[in-house]
Amino acid sequence: MRIPSQDLRSVPQWVRAFFHKETLRNALALRDELVARSDWFLLACLLGILHHQRPGFLSFPSSHLVPYLRDKLFEPLEFPELYKERDVLSRMEAKVRRTYRRPPKCRMPSVVVHGDSRDLRLSGTVDAVITSPPYMNELDYVRDNRLRLWVLERALPLQRDIPKRAREVQFRALMRETFTRIAPAISERGVIILVVGEASRGSKVLDSSSIITSLFSSTHELAGFRLERVIHDVIPDIRRSRRDLRGTKRETVLVFRNSASDRTMQPVLL
Ligand SMILES: C[S@@+](CC[C@H](N)C(=O)[O-])C[C@H]1O[C@@H](n2cnc3c(N)ncnc32)[C@H](O)[C@@H]1O
Repeated sequence: MRIPSQDLRSVPQWVRAFFHKETLRNALALRDELVARSDWFLLACLLGILHHQRPGFLSFPSSHLVPYLRDKLFEPLEFPELYKERDVLSRMEAKVRRTYRRPPKCRMPSVVVHGDSRDLRLSGTVDAVITSPPYMNELDYVRDNRLRLWVLERALPLQRDIPKRAREVQFRALMRETFTRIAPAISERGVIILVVGEASRGSKVLDSSSIITSLFSSTHELAGFRLERVIHDVIPDIRRSRRDLRGTKRETVLVFRNSASDRTMQPVLL
């Protein structure tokens, strides 16, 4: 197989700053090949080893979630070996082996739909929708995942998450547009399970779960869904992505069950 050579001049400087140039050339060549083959599993593995401070990763020492170089902690003069070229294929192989160490217990056929949830068309009926909508806090998924996203598309996506102004209004609209579209496809007794984050911003607590609960109880198209369970899950500080430990402190799992048959017994007056 002939791998086309990679011209790094088309790669932005902020991306190049994270890698030895040969590592980056090889990683981008592999990325192009995997995209051409639609091999999304291996592409996900490549993104999974893109940046961190550990030797199994491809970048210079950097943080794992939001990409920042850790060149103060790992001074290049003191740790020159961390700034040498890193072999991509052996690290990919190790990543695949790690991934398969705990294979999923049940294997189900899956399809990947790439798009906006507001345009989702579900064919047939589904028993469960499990999702984690964007949190209403200061997380900016494009900014925080910029290095993985750039390698994925060789550009940053233009679409941004919930705009910073009028977050609650935007969040409510996004949830309404998504779930009124999904709801008709949920089977009788089927569930919609949402994992939502609660965050404080200044003195204000942005409680996404209350917004969703009130939306489900006040929207005609969602009237068949009853809130069946609420599970609160405190996120340990060590698992939080922001260094200053601001942002999401607690997640809430909301389980809504389609009790459409109950509706015939208890008609909803419109
Ligand atoms: C809380 S994260 C959950 C990510 C992933 N489901 C998980 O559990 O790790 C919310 C995700 O929703 C994505 N998102 C935001 N608006 C969206 C939309 N209109 N349609 C589809 N996805 C959206 C964000 O980019 C982000 O990746």
